[in-house]
Amino acid sequence: MFIHSALLALGATLAAAVQPLEVQGAYFVNPKTGNRFQVVGVAYQPGGSAGYNEEKKVDPLSNPDICLRDAALLQILGVNAIRVYNLNPNLNHDACASIFNAAGMYMILDVNSPLVGESLTSDKPWESYYAAYLNRTFAVVEAFKDYPNTLAFFSGNEVINEVSNGATVPPYMRAVTRDLKNYVKNHVSRPIPVGYSAADVRDVLFDTYNYFQCSLEGDDDNMSKVDIFALNSYSWCGESSFETSTFDDLVSGFTGTSVPVFFSEYGCNTPSPRVFTEVGTIYGSQMTGVFSGGIVYEYTQESNNYGLVEMNEDGTAKLRGDFETLQAQYAKLNFTEIQSQKPPTGETPKPPACSPSLITTKGFNNNFTIPVPPPGAEEIIKNGVSPKPSGKLIEISDWTVKYEVRNSNGNVITNLAVKPLADDAINEPGTNTEAGTGTGTSTGSSASSTPSKDAAPRTGAVVLPAMAMGALAVMAAI
Ligand SMILES: *[C@@H]1O[C@H](CO)[C@@H](O)[C@H](O)[C@H]1NC(C)=O
Ligand SMILES: *[C@@H]1O[C@H](CO)[C@@H](O)[C@H](O)[C@H]1NC(C)=O
Ligand SMILES: *[C@@H]1O[C@H](CO)[C@@H](O)[C@H](O)[C@H]1NC(C)=O
Ligand SMILES: *[C@@H]1O[C@H](CO)[C@@H](O)[C@H](O)[C@H]1NC(C)=O
Repeated sequence: MFIHSALLALGATLAAAVQPLEVQGAYFVNPKTGNRFQVVGVAYQPGGSAGYNEEKKVDPLSNPDICLRDAALLQILGVNAIRVYNLNPNLNHDACASIFNAAGMYMILDVNSPLVGESLTSDKPWESYYAAYLNRTFAVVEAFKDYPNTLAFFSGNEVINEVSNGATVPPYMRAVTRDLKNYVKNHVSRPIPVGYSAADVRDVLFDTYNYFQCSLEGDDDNMSKVDIFALNSYSWCGESSFETSTFDDLVSGFTGTSVPVFFSEYGCNTPSPRVFTEVGTIYGSQMTGVFSGGIVYEYTQESNNYGLVEMNEDGTAKLRGDFETLQAQYAKLNFTEIQSQKPPTGETPKPPACSPSLITTKGFNNNFTIPVPPPGAEEIIKNGVSPKPSGKLIEISDWTVKYEVRNSNGNVITNLAVKPLADDAINEPGTNTEAGTGTGTSTGSSASSTPSKDAAPRTGAVVLPAMAMGALAVMAAI
């Protein structure tokens, strides 16, 4: 009996969770408050493409100590979402998902990976559309569907990036979206949205959007239509403006959208260091009526030089100047204002009916006959993946970051920890302000403003198997 009540008390603390969000018309909405949700996110793939390695059994959400370090830093930065590209459905993500949940952050997840057999290919897409591929995407859904902070799935990322693949990919991409949505409908207790992350290549962007968001006669409940549409956009560089960046064309092009639209990546890196002046515009009155925020590319510094934080193989890290610049831009926003907007009352915009007239670029596919599921796929969609990966929130007993992190001046950040938020709370700037910067630990030369030059050469994934489950005591949920 004694033990019983202790277990109950423990179980009770597990309840602290973000509110699962819904899509209502063209917006993400918190069903409890009725408020719109705007994505304030960062792309999260520590270790770059090497951070996903099937043989080493690692992906970006598999190492609790690393997630704890990064959730603390992202909480201080002020974001409310991460995007994760490459996930292995068969690894245990419970601790990382629980950490990001407690930190008040949602997860936008790609169901694909760059490995062969794990994504639809731009070239000859019919060759990559088969049951074992779909099974893997459904397994990702199974692995993440029970976390309350799973916000959305991307069925594809930049599979169309020029007219030549715009000619062949669209029907197959709609087919994958349909199969995933049917899987969610049959096996998930809430309607987690499924959508597409497009390349912002203007020759094909709006044809891609129209092809994916139009409604199709005879398509049962329009299952092949995207629930959300996002784009990876790098057209705002440096001290630009709404017009110079051509963000104004994006707003006019997406006005009247039937689905939420947001940036699944942004943050042009020339000139460097970045100034992130687009932040004020993205969350300002010129854009929020049409857009639902965006995701900055990207958290870790990799060879392509977009990182906010430099990671070392031993788990220590150092903020880049861009982290602090972005933090300062977020801090200028009025989050009360941003996260308390209501969706408009009345009818939500209807999608256009699919028709060749929606497609404007010569050579882009305008045939809306969607391929039937490949042999074997329908049984999996009906009966579920077998065996089924699964995930659940667990108790985290220690929120203290185990690794040394320095700010861009080289000073060690003290008291670094995730601050678990109350039930339903969403992270925003100012939520986690306990951390401080000590004095006298400056490393001098590393305070250089050209971090990419003095960054230590890195050879691969941040893998610390011995420490993975050790330093952070993780107790299984009751
Ligand atoms: C489907 O996915 C599960 C989970 O990853 C895996 O164990 C199973 O072998 C897969 N089945 C097929 C038919 O690919
Ligand atoms: C699906 O498309 C048809 C044809 O355009 C439309 O009548 C119907 O309302 C749509 N259904 C949904 C659920 O959007
Ligand atoms: C932030 O927005 C809220 C709601 O619109 C408003 O009441 C408040 O005065 C604003 N705060 C600042 C500092 O402008
Ligand atoms: C549309 O595509 C389907 C499937 O590939 C094909 O059978 C049909 O002939 C195409 N329609 C037109 C008008 O090209």
